[in-house]
Amino acid sequence: MSFLTLMLKNPFRNHPPNGDVYVMNEQENIIEIHDLKKSYDKGKIKALNGINLEIKKGEFISIMGPSGSGKSTLLNMIGALDKADEGSIMVSGIDLMTAKDLNKFRSKEIGFVFQMHNLIPNLSVVENVEIPMYETNLSSKEMRERALELLELMNFTNLNDIIKQDPTKLSGGERQRVAIARALVNHPSIILADEPTGALDSKTGDNILKLLKDLHVKENVTLILVTHEPYVAHMADRILDVLDGKITEE
Ligand SMILES: Nc1ncnc2c1ncn2[C@@H]1O[C@H](COP(=O)(O)OP(=O)(O)OP(=O)(O)O)[C@@H](O)[C@H]1O
Ligand SMILES: [Mg+2]
Repeated sequence: MSFLTLMLKNPFRNHPPNGDVYVMNEQENIIEIHDLKKSYDKGKIKALNGINLEIKKGEFISIMGPSGSGKSTLLNMIGALDKADEGSIMVSGIDLMTAKDLNKFRSKEIGFVFQMHNLIPNLSVVENVEIPMYETNLSSKEMRERALELLELMNFTNLNDIIKQDPTKLSGGERQRVAIARALVNHPSIILADEPTGALDSKTGDNILKLLKDLHVKENVTLILVTHEPYVAHMADRILDVLDGKITEE
C-alpha cells in the first residue's frame, strides 16, 4: 500500500487520536480554530474566551448571539483584521498567529461585507469596486471589466447611472450591493458578512440575502454570516451560537 493510499485510508487523518497533534487538511477544513482567546482593556473584557471551530470549504454558517457576545470579534479574527492573544487559527492553510503578509491574505482570500460599507466617497461606484484589485497584477482595463462584471450580477436596474455615482448618493440597499460586488472581485474563498442586512428594510434585506446565498451556491464560496434574525440564520447549513466569547451550541 502506498503512502498516499495509507493517508487517504487513515481514519484519524483529520482528528489525530492523541489530541496533541494538530493536522490541517486544507481540502476539508478551510477554517480551524482552537481555544482562541482575545481580550480588550488589559484583559478586563474577554471578547473571545476559548473558541473552537471547524468550518468546511463551501459551508454556509450563520452566527447568532446577544450584543457584545463576541461575534464581530470572531469575524475580525477570521478576516485577520485583528490578532488573537492565544490559541490557534488557520484560515485557507495560513496560520494567522504567525503569518507576515496579512494584506495579501485578506485581499486574496476574504470578502468583507459589513454593515458599515466603508465605501469611499469621491470615488465613483465602479472605482470603489476596483479597490481590492490594486493588490493584484491586473491592468486597469482588466480591473474595470471585472468590476463591471460583478456589478452586473447585483441586479441594478439602472447600472449605467449607478457606476458613475458617488456612493454617498445611493440608498442603503444599493450601497450594500456595491459592497458585495467589491467583496467578490478577487474571487475570495470566504465571505464574512457581519449583519449585512441590519440597516436595510426587509425586502431589500431579503434581496441581499438571496444574492449572497446564490453566490455561495454557484461559486462554492464559504459564507459566514452574523445575524440577529432566526429566519435568516436558518438559511445556513449550521448555526453557531456565541455567548460570552464561547460557542455554546451547533
Ligand atoms: N476594539 C475594541 N476595544 C475594546 N473593547 C472591544 C473592542 N472590540 C470589541 N470590544 C468588546 O468586546 C466584546 C465583544 O464585542 P463584539 O463587537 O465582538 O460583540 P458582538 O457580538 O459583535 O455584538 P453586536 O451584536 O452588538 O455587534 C464587547 O464587550 C465589546 O465591547
Ligand atoms: Mg457585532
